[in-house]
Amino acid sequence: MKAIISDIHSNLEALQAVLKDIEKHQVDDVYCLGDVVGYGPNPRECVDLVMKCKMVLLGNHDQGAMFDPDGFNPPAERAIFWTRAQLEAPGENRLLKERRWEFLAERPRSFKENGFLYVHGSARNPLNEYVFPEDIYNQSKMKRIFALVEKYCFQGHTHVPGIFTEQLADELYQFHSPEDIDYVYRLDGRKILCNVGSVGQPRDGDWRACYVLLDGETIRYRRVEYDIETTIKKIYAIPELENFLGDRLRDGR
Ligand SMILES: [Fe+2]
Repeated sequence: MKAIISDIHSNLEALQAVLKDIEKHQVDDVYCLGDVVGYGPNPRECVDLVMKCKMVLLGNHDQGAMFDPDGFNPPAERAIFWTRAQLEAPGENRLLKERRWEFLAERPRSFKENGFLYVHGSARNPLNEYVFPEDIYNQSKMKRIFALVEKYCFQGHTHVPGIFTEQLADELYQFHSPEDIDYVYRLDGRKILCNVGSVGQPRDGDWRACYVLLDGETIRYRRVEYDIETTIKKIYAIPELENFLGDRLRDGR
């Protein structure tokens, strides 16, 4: 069994709670679809934990922290500059600092394995393209993305968990939220895009950390409670991180 996590965004409390939940299941490998950092108060600690995962992709915020951030709104950009300063901070273990930096710099943008594709954004643009639930009405977009997927694609980036399916006959697309499918989806050969949701900043109205377990043919969504008030307090205490980045965690938006 695999656990697939994404979009941790420097939220240590959420990541620790998810890793604890993962321990309760027979998980062999943890895959992470990127955005380990950005927005939240604990970039270093989150990178250190994620380094233990079997496979970790590059997210757009991870890239922004290393190189020049491009296309971010002002609060996100400020958070990214603060994140970079944390990763560059002198005075602590220099070797560890270099290891983190190297680790982030070496992240691939996509990963393929036995018909399964893993990306941060989309099969078409692994780093930056959003696939939102309402995109099911954008048939040309969905058609192009589905054409690039051999069987199953796992992605993150929007922080909105759920499964996109295609109806081959009339090319209509559907989106199923975790609640719609009772948190379980069985892979039956039909192509899907699975958004695994976000560990550290869910945006589907549910504040709990989100990830999936993949066991052969079954995807299971997990929602995990964590000590959200501690994370919010940390965000409030860091001037470079705007307070609303904490408030939004409470609303899951
Ligand atoms: Fe993200």
